[in-house]
Amino acid sequence: MLNSKIAGIGHYVPKKVVTNNDLTKVMDTSDEWIQERTGIKERRYAEKHKETTATMGAAAARIAIERAGITPEEVDFIVFATLSPDYYFPGSGVLMQRELGITKTEIGALDIRNQCSGFIYGLSIADQFVKTGMYKNVLVVGSEMHSMGLDFSTKGRNVTVIFGDGAGAALIQPTEEVGKGILTTKLHSDGTYAEKLAFISPGSHGGYHADKLGLEDRFGFDKDVEFGEIFATQKMLDDGQLYPEMEGQFVFKLAVTKFPEVIHEALTAVNLKSDAIDMLIPHQANLRISQFVAKRMGLSQDKVYNNIQKYGNTTAASIPIALCEAWETGKIKEGDLVCLAAFGSGFTWGSALIRW
Ligand code: ACO
Repeated sequence: MLNSKIAGIGHYVPKKVVTNNDLTKVMDTSDEWIQERTGIKERRYAEKHKETTATMGAAAARIAIERAGITPEEVDFIVFATLSPDYYFPGSGVLMQRELGITKTEIGALDIRNQCSGFIYGLSIADQFVKTGMYKNVLVVGSEMHSMGLDFSTKGRNVTVIFGDGAGAALIQPTEEVGKGILTTKLHSDGTYAEKLAFISPGSHGGYHADKLGLEDRFGFDKDVEFGEIFATQKMLDDGQLYPEMEGQFVFKLAVTKFPEVIHEALTAVNLKSDAIDMLIPHQANLRISQFVAKRMGLSQDKVYNNIQKYGNTTAASIPIALCEAWETGKIKEGDLVCLAAFGSGFTWGSALIRW
Protein backbone atom coordinates (compact mmCIF):
# COMPACT_ATOMS: atom_id res chain seq x y z
CA MET A 1 0.00 0.00 0.00
CA LEU A 2 1.14 3.54 -0.77
CA ASN A 3 1.86 6.12 1.91
CA SER A 4 0.51 9.63 1.70
CA LYS A 5 2.40 12.87 2.37
CA ILE A 6 1.74 16.57 2.69
CA ALA A 7 3.03 17.82 -0.67
CA GLY A 8 2.06 21.45 -0.15
CA ILE A 9 0.81 23.58 2.70
CA GLY A 10 -0.60 27.11 2.91
CA HIS A 11 -2.38 29.44 5.27
CA TYR A 12 -4.29 32.68 5.22
CA VAL A 13 -5.22 35.07 8.01
CA PRO A 14 -7.29 38.22 7.50
CA LYS A 15 -5.56 41.60 7.80
CA LYS A 16 -7.69 43.05 10.61
CA VAL A 17 -5.94 42.67 13.99
CA VAL A 18 -8.18 42.81 17.08
CA THR A 19 -6.25 43.21 20.32
CA ASN A 20 -7.43 42.29 23.81
CA ASN A 21 -7.70 46.01 24.53
CA ASP A 22 -10.04 46.39 21.54
CA LEU A 23 -12.36 43.85 23.18
CA THR A 24 -12.36 45.76 26.48
CA LYS A 25 -14.25 48.52 24.62
CA VAL A 26 -17.29 46.25 24.05
CA MET A 27 -17.29 43.89 27.05
CA ASP A 28 -16.09 43.64 30.61
CA THR A 29 -12.73 41.94 30.17
CA SER A 30 -9.05 42.84 30.38
CA ASP A 31 -5.80 42.25 28.52
CA GLU A 32 -4.38 40.86 31.75
CA TRP A 33 -7.17 38.28 32.21
CA ILE A 34 -7.03 37.08 28.63
CA GLN A 35 -3.23 36.79 28.50
CA GLU A 36 -2.95 35.14 31.89
CA ARG A 37 -5.71 32.55 31.27
CA THR A 38 -5.16 31.82 27.57
CA GLY A 39 -1.90 33.36 26.31
CA ILE A 40 -3.81 35.26 23.61
CA LYS A 41 -2.66 38.82 22.81
CA GLU A 42 -4.59 39.42 19.60
CA ARG A 43 -6.62 37.66 16.93
CA ARG A 44 -7.68 38.37 13.33
CA TYR A 45 -11.20 39.12 12.12
CA ALA A 46 -12.28 38.68 8.51
CA GLU A 47 -13.66 41.57 6.51
CA LYS A 48 -17.45 41.28 6.49
CA HIS A 49 -19.09 41.03 3.03
CA LYS A 50 -15.68 40.55 1.41
CA GLU A 51 -14.31 37.45 3.10
CA THR A 52 -16.01 34.23 4.17
CA THR A 53 -15.00 30.85 5.50
CA ALA A 54 -14.92 29.55 1.90
CA THR A 55 -12.89 32.46 0.47
CA MET A 56 -10.31 32.25 3.24
CA GLY A 57 -10.12 28.49 2.66
CA ALA A 58 -9.57 29.16 -1.05
CA ALA A 59 -6.77 31.65 -0.27
CA ALA A 60 -4.94 29.06 1.84
CA ALA A 61 -5.68 26.30 -0.69
CA ARG A 62 -4.16 28.24 -3.63
CA ILE A 63 -0.83 28.40 -1.77
CA ALA A 64 -0.91 24.70 -0.82
CA ILE A 65 -1.78 23.70 -4.40
CA GLU A 66 1.00 25.82 -5.89
CA ARG A 67 3.55 24.52 -3.40
CA ALA A 68 2.55 20.95 -4.29
CA GLY A 69 3.45 21.78 -7.89
CA ILE A 70 0.01 21.13 -9.36
CA THR A 71 -2.80 23.25 -10.78
CA PRO A 72 -6.21 23.65 -9.09
CA GLU A 73 -7.77 21.55 -11.89
CA GLU A 74 -5.62 18.60 -10.79
CA VAL A 75 -7.16 18.45 -7.30
CA ASP A 76 -9.32 15.34 -7.29
CA PHE A 77 -11.09 15.55 -3.92
CA ILE A 78 -11.83 18.22 -1.30
CA VAL A 79 -12.24 17.75 2.45
CA PHE A 80 -13.39 20.95 4.15
CA ALA A 81 -13.44 21.24 7.94
CA THR A 82 -15.28 24.09 9.66
CA LEU A 83 -17.74 24.88 12.43
CA SER A 84 -18.52 28.31 10.98
CA PRO A 85 -19.71 27.60 7.42
CA ASP A 86 -20.89 30.27 4.98
CA TYR A 87 -24.32 28.60 4.82
CA TYR A 88 -26.07 26.05 7.03
CA PHE A 89 -26.15 24.08 3.78
CA PRO A 90 -24.65 23.49 1.27
CA GLY A 91 -21.26 23.11 2.87
CA SER A 92 -18.33 25.45 2.37
CA GLY A 93 -16.41 22.79 0.40
CA VAL A 94 -18.45 23.36 -2.75
CA LEU A 95 -18.32 27.15 -2.27
CA MET A 96 -14.54 26.96 -2.04
CA GLN A 97 -14.50 24.74 -5.13
CA ARG A 98 -16.39 27.51 -6.96
CA GLU A 99 -13.99 30.16 -5.62
CA LEU A 100 -11.07 28.10 -6.90
CA GLY A 101 -12.76 27.89 -10.33
CA ILE A 102 -12.64 24.12 -10.47
CA THR A 103 -16.30 23.19 -10.85
CA LYS A 104 -15.81 21.80 -14.39
CA THR A 105 -13.89 18.79 -13.07
CA GLU A 106 -16.89 17.88 -10.88
CA ILE A 107 -14.71 16.39 -8.14
CA GLY A 108 -16.17 15.30 -4.82
CA ALA A 109 -16.29 17.74 -1.91
CA LEU A 110 -16.91 16.63 1.65
CA ASP A 111 -17.60 18.95 4.58
CA ILE A 112 -16.79 17.66 8.02
CA ARG A 113 -17.92 19.06 11.34
CA ASN A 114 -15.37 17.99 13.88
CA GLN A 115 -14.54 21.39 15.31
CA CYS A 116 -11.01 21.60 16.76
CA SER A 117 -10.03 18.14 15.56
CA GLY A 118 -11.50 18.78 12.08
CA PHE A 119 -8.15 19.08 10.34
CA ILE A 120 -6.82 15.83 11.82
CA TYR A 121 -10.03 14.02 10.87
CA GLY A 122 -9.71 15.54 7.37
CA LEU A 123 -6.10 14.47 7.08
CA SER A 124 -7.05 10.94 8.09
CA ILE A 125 -9.81 10.81 5.47
CA ALA A 126 -7.39 12.07 2.80
CA ASP A 127 -4.78 9.55 3.95
CA GLN A 128 -7.19 6.64 3.46
CA PHE A 129 -8.24 7.83 -0.03
CA VAL A 130 -4.63 8.29 -1.14
CA LYS A 131 -3.32 5.07 0.44
CA THR A 132 -5.91 2.98 -1.35
CA GLY A 133 -5.06 4.66 -4.66
CA MET A 134 -8.51 6.19 -5.11
CA TYR A 135 -7.24 9.78 -5.34
CA LYS A 136 -3.85 11.38 -6.04
CA ASN A 137 -4.38 15.01 -4.99
CA VAL A 138 -6.63 15.51 -2.00
CA LEU A 139 -7.09 19.05 -0.71
CA VAL A 140 -7.71 19.25 3.05
CA VAL A 141 -8.82 22.66 4.34
CA GLY A 142 -9.63 23.99 7.80
CA SER A 143 -11.20 27.44 7.81
CA GLU A 144 -13.17 29.50 10.33
CA MET A 145 -14.91 32.84 10.42
CA HIS A 146 -15.86 32.88 14.09
CA SER A 147 -16.14 36.66 14.35
CA MET A 148 -19.55 36.72 12.64
CA GLY A 149 -21.21 34.52 15.26
CA LEU A 150 -19.89 35.46 18.69
CA ASP A 151 -21.63 37.19 21.59
CA PHE A 152 -19.78 40.49 22.07
CA SER A 153 -21.64 41.32 25.27
CA THR A 154 -20.09 40.54 28.66
CA LYS A 155 -22.32 37.42 28.83
CA GLY A 156 -20.29 35.86 26.02
CA ARG A 157 -16.82 36.93 27.16
CA ASN A 158 -15.55 33.49 28.25
CA VAL A 159 -15.98 32.23 24.66
CA THR A 160 -15.65 35.34 22.50
CA VAL A 161 -12.17 36.46 23.62
CA ILE A 162 -10.73 33.08 22.65
CA PHE A 163 -11.71 32.77 19.01
CA GLY A 164 -10.22 34.20 15.83
CA ASP A 165 -10.58 33.83 12.05
CA GLY A 166 -8.25 32.20 9.52
CA ALA A 167 -7.62 29.24 7.26
CA GLY A 168 -5.04 26.57 6.54
CA ALA A 169 -4.75 23.97 3.79
CA ALA A 170 -2.71 20.92 2.86
CA LEU A 171 -2.45 19.05 -0.43
CA ILE A 172 -2.07 15.31 0.15
CA GLN A 173 -0.34 13.12 -2.43
CA PRO A 174 0.97 9.56 -2.57
CA THR A 175 4.64 8.85 -1.88
CA GLU A 176 6.67 5.76 -2.58
CA GLU A 177 9.40 6.73 -0.11
CA VAL A 178 9.37 4.14 2.66
CA GLY A 179 8.82 5.54 6.16
CA LYS A 180 7.87 9.02 4.85
CA GLY A 181 4.63 10.94 5.07
CA ILE A 182 1.62 10.27 7.28
CA LEU A 183 2.65 7.37 9.51
CA THR A 184 -0.57 7.06 11.47
CA THR A 185 -3.70 8.92 12.53
CA LYS A 186 -5.83 8.23 15.61
CA LEU A 187 -9.39 9.51 15.90
CA HIS A 188 -11.77 9.47 18.87
CA SER A 189 -15.07 10.87 20.08
CA ASP A 190 -17.38 10.76 23.09
CA GLY A 191 -20.76 12.47 22.82
CA THR A 192 -21.53 12.21 26.54
CA TYR A 193 -20.63 15.84 27.09
CA ALA A 194 -21.75 17.27 23.75
CA GLU A 195 -23.40 20.31 25.37
CA LYS A 196 -20.32 21.31 27.41
CA LEU A 197 -18.95 23.10 24.35
CA ALA A 198 -21.61 23.67 21.75
CA PHE A 199 -23.52 25.99 19.45
CA ILE A 200 -26.92 24.50 20.17
CA SER A 201 -29.45 26.66 18.37
CA PRO A 202 -30.59 27.02 15.68
CA GLY A 203 -31.08 23.30 15.19
CA SER A 204 -33.59 20.50 14.80
CA HIS A 205 -33.29 19.24 18.40
CA GLY A 206 -36.66 20.68 19.43
CA GLY A 207 -35.71 20.49 23.08
CA TYR A 208 -35.18 16.69 23.04
CA HIS A 209 -31.67 16.65 24.48
CA ALA A 210 -32.55 19.38 26.96
CA ASP A 211 -35.40 17.24 28.34
CA LYS A 212 -33.18 14.17 28.60
CA LEU A 213 -30.41 16.10 30.31
CA GLY A 214 -32.73 18.06 32.58
CA LEU A 215 -31.70 21.35 30.96
CA GLU A 216 -35.20 22.47 30.12
CA ASP A 217 -35.70 26.01 28.84
CA ARG A 218 -32.08 26.38 27.93
CA PHE A 219 -32.64 25.60 24.29
CA GLY A 220 -35.21 28.16 23.17
CA PHE A 221 -37.86 25.70 21.98
CA ASP A 222 -41.52 26.53 22.44
CA LYS A 223 -43.37 23.27 23.29
CA ASP A 224 -46.77 24.62 22.16
CA VAL A 225 -45.73 24.83 18.53
CA GLU A 226 -47.14 21.88 16.58
CA PHE A 227 -45.49 22.22 13.17
CA GLY A 228 -42.24 23.86 12.16
CA GLU A 229 -40.79 26.81 14.06
CA ILE A 230 -38.44 24.49 15.84
CA PHE A 231 -35.19 25.08 14.00
CA ALA A 232 -34.97 28.83 14.60
CA THR A 233 -37.42 30.52 16.94
CA GLN A 234 -38.09 34.02 18.14
CA LYS A 235 -37.49 32.75 21.69
CA MET A 236 -33.93 31.77 20.75
CA LEU A 237 -33.33 35.31 19.52
CA ASP A 238 -35.06 36.93 22.51
CA ASP A 239 -33.08 34.82 24.98
CA GLY A 240 -29.78 35.56 23.22
CA GLN A 241 -29.17 31.85 22.64
CA LEU A 242 -27.75 31.94 19.14
CA TYR A 243 -24.17 31.76 20.33
CA PRO A 244 -21.57 29.15 21.27
CA GLU A 245 -21.40 28.12 24.93
CA MET A 246 -18.58 26.50 26.87
CA GLU A 247 -17.93 25.19 30.35
CA GLY A 248 -14.27 26.16 30.15
CA GLN A 249 -12.85 24.40 33.18
CA PHE A 250 -14.63 21.14 32.35
CA VAL A 251 -13.21 21.20 28.82
CA PHE A 252 -9.76 22.18 30.09
CA LYS A 253 -9.54 19.24 32.50
CA LEU A 254 -10.49 16.69 29.85
CA ALA A 255 -8.24 18.27 27.21
CA VAL A 256 -5.09 17.94 29.32
CA THR A 257 -5.83 14.22 29.79
CA LYS A 258 -6.83 13.37 26.24
CA PHE A 259 -3.98 15.22 24.45
CA PRO A 260 -1.16 13.11 25.97
CA GLU A 261 -3.28 9.93 25.72
CA VAL A 262 -3.90 10.25 21.99
CA ILE A 263 -0.29 11.29 21.26
CA HIS A 264 1.00 8.23 23.13
CA GLU A 265 -1.47 6.06 21.23
CA ALA A 266 -0.07 7.27 17.88
CA LEU A 267 3.54 6.84 19.04
CA THR A 268 2.84 3.32 20.24
CA ALA A 269 1.26 2.41 16.89
CA VAL A 270 4.56 3.14 15.12
CA ASN A 271 6.84 1.89 17.90
CA LEU A 272 8.21 5.29 18.88
CA LYS A 273 8.52 7.20 22.16
CA SER A 274 7.84 10.87 22.83
CA ASP A 275 11.55 11.76 22.61
CA ALA A 276 11.34 10.95 18.88
CA ILE A 277 9.05 13.95 18.29
CA ASP A 278 10.87 16.85 16.61
CA MET A 279 7.87 19.17 16.52
CA LEU A 280 4.51 18.97 18.28
CA ILE A 281 1.76 21.09 16.74
CA PRO A 282 -1.07 21.09 19.27
CA HIS A 283 -4.44 22.58 18.43
CA GLN A 284 -4.24 26.16 19.66
CA ALA A 285 -7.01 26.22 22.29
CA ASN A 286 -5.11 27.66 25.22
CA LEU A 287 -1.37 28.28 25.76
CA ARG A 288 -1.69 26.76 29.23
CA ILE A 289 -3.03 23.51 27.71
CA SER A 290 -0.11 23.38 25.23
CA GLN A 291 2.44 24.00 27.99
CA PHE A 292 0.86 21.38 30.21
CA VAL A 293 0.85 18.79 27.40
CA ALA A 294 4.49 19.55 26.50
CA LYS A 295 5.50 19.03 30.12
CA ARG A 296 3.54 15.80 30.38
CA MET A 297 5.20 14.52 27.17
CA GLY A 298 8.65 15.56 28.38
CA LEU A 299 9.09 17.91 25.42
CA SER A 300 11.06 21.14 25.70
CA GLN A 301 9.26 24.31 24.58
CA ASP A 302 11.36 24.55 21.39
CA LYS A 303 9.73 21.29 20.26
CA VAL A 304 6.22 22.69 20.55
CA TYR A 305 4.86 25.28 18.13
CA ASN A 306 2.42 27.84 19.50
CA ASN A 307 0.93 30.86 17.77
CA ILE A 308 -2.27 31.32 19.80
CA GLN A 309 -0.73 34.59 21.03
CA LYS A 310 -1.27 36.10 17.53
CA TYR A 311 -4.40 34.36 16.27
CA GLY A 312 -6.42 33.02 19.22
CA ASN A 313 -8.22 29.74 18.66
CA THR A 314 -9.05 29.30 14.97
CA THR A 315 -10.60 25.85 15.55
CA ALA A 316 -10.31 23.71 12.37
CA ALA A 317 -7.75 26.16 10.95
CA SER A 318 -5.48 26.25 13.97
CA ILE A 319 -3.36 23.16 13.20
CA PRO A 320 -2.78 23.86 9.48
CA ILE A 321 -1.97 27.53 10.19
CA ALA A 322 0.54 26.53 12.90
CA LEU A 323 1.99 23.71 10.79
CA CYS A 324 2.42 26.05 7.83
CA GLU A 325 4.09 28.76 9.93
CA ALA A 326 6.40 26.25 11.60
CA TRP A 327 7.45 24.92 8.19
CA GLU A 328 7.83 28.41 6.63
CA THR A 329 10.07 29.55 9.47
CA GLY A 330 12.33 26.49 9.18
CA LYS A 331 11.20 24.88 12.42
CA ILE A 332 10.19 21.74 10.52
CA LYS A 333 12.84 20.16 8.31
CA GLU A 334 13.02 17.20 5.95
CA GLY A 335 13.00 13.96 7.94
CA ASP A 336 11.54 15.49 11.13
CA LEU A 337 8.87 13.64 13.06
CA VAL A 338 5.90 16.00 13.35
CA CYS A 339 3.04 15.28 15.70
CA LEU A 340 -0.39 16.92 15.36
CA ALA A 341 -2.91 16.66 18.19
CA ALA A 342 -6.32 18.18 18.91
CA PHE A 343 -9.19 18.05 21.37
CA GLY A 344 -12.46 19.93 21.22
CA SER A 345 -16.23 20.11 21.01
CA GLY A 346 -18.06 16.82 20.59
CA PHE A 347 -15.95 15.82 22.32
CA THR A 348 -13.77 14.73 19.41
CA TRP A 349 -10.02 14.38 19.51
CA GLY A 350 -7.20 12.92 17.48
CA SER A 351 -3.53 12.81 16.57
CA ALA A 352 -1.34 12.33 13.52
CA LEU A 353 2.32 11.45 13.14
CA ILE A 354 4.06 12.64 10.00
CA ARG A 355 7.63 11.92 8.87
CA TRP A 356 8.30 15.17 6.96
N1 ACO B 1 -12.60 38.39 30.98
C1 ACO B 1 -12.64 38.54 32.32
N2 ACO B 1 -13.18 37.62 33.14
C2 ACO B 1 -13.68 36.51 32.59
C3 ACO B 1 -13.66 36.30 31.20
C4 ACO B 1 -13.09 37.29 30.38
N3 ACO B 1 -13.03 37.17 29.04
N4 ACO B 1 -14.22 35.09 30.93
C5 ACO B 1 -14.59 34.58 32.12
N5 ACO B 1 -14.26 35.43 33.11
C6 ACO B 1 -14.46 35.26 34.56
C7 ACO B 1 -15.58 34.32 34.89
O1 ACO B 1 -16.81 35.00 34.89
C8 ACO B 1 -15.17 33.83 36.25
O2 ACO B 1 -15.52 34.80 37.20
P1 ACO B 1 -16.01 34.39 38.69
O3 ACO B 1 -14.86 33.66 39.28
O4 ACO B 1 -16.30 35.70 39.31
O5 ACO B 1 -17.21 33.52 38.48
C9 ACO B 1 -13.64 33.79 36.20
O6 ACO B 1 -13.28 34.65 35.10
C10 ACO B 1 -13.06 32.41 35.98
O7 ACO B 1 -13.75 31.80 34.86
P2 ACO B 1 -13.33 30.37 34.34
O8 ACO B 1 -14.22 29.99 33.21
O9 ACO B 1 -13.24 29.44 35.51
O10 ACO B 1 -11.84 30.67 33.81
P3 ACO B 1 -10.70 29.68 33.37
O11 ACO B 1 -9.48 29.94 34.10
O12 ACO B 1 -11.20 28.26 33.31
O13 ACO B 1 -10.43 30.14 31.86
C11 ACO B 1 -10.91 29.36 29.65
C12 ACO B 1 -11.45 30.07 30.90
C13 ACO B 1 -9.82 30.22 29.05
C14 ACO B 1 -12.07 29.27 28.66
C15 ACO B 1 -10.36 27.96 29.99
O14 ACO B 1 -11.26 27.29 30.82
C16 ACO B 1 -10.09 27.10 28.79
O15 ACO B 1 -9.21 27.39 27.98
N6 ACO B 1 -10.80 25.98 28.62
C17 ACO B 1 -10.55 25.01 27.55
C18 ACO B 1 -10.94 25.54 26.20
C19 ACO B 1 -10.77 24.46 25.15
O16 ACO B 1 -9.84 23.68 25.18
N7 ACO B 1 -11.68 24.39 24.21
C20 ACO B 1 -11.61 23.33 23.23
C21 ACO B 1 -11.37 23.82 21.90
S1 ACO B 1 -12.58 24.96 21.29
C22 ACO B 1 -13.66 24.08 20.24
O17 ACO B 1 -13.69 22.90 20.21
C23 ACO B 1 -14.62 24.87 19.45
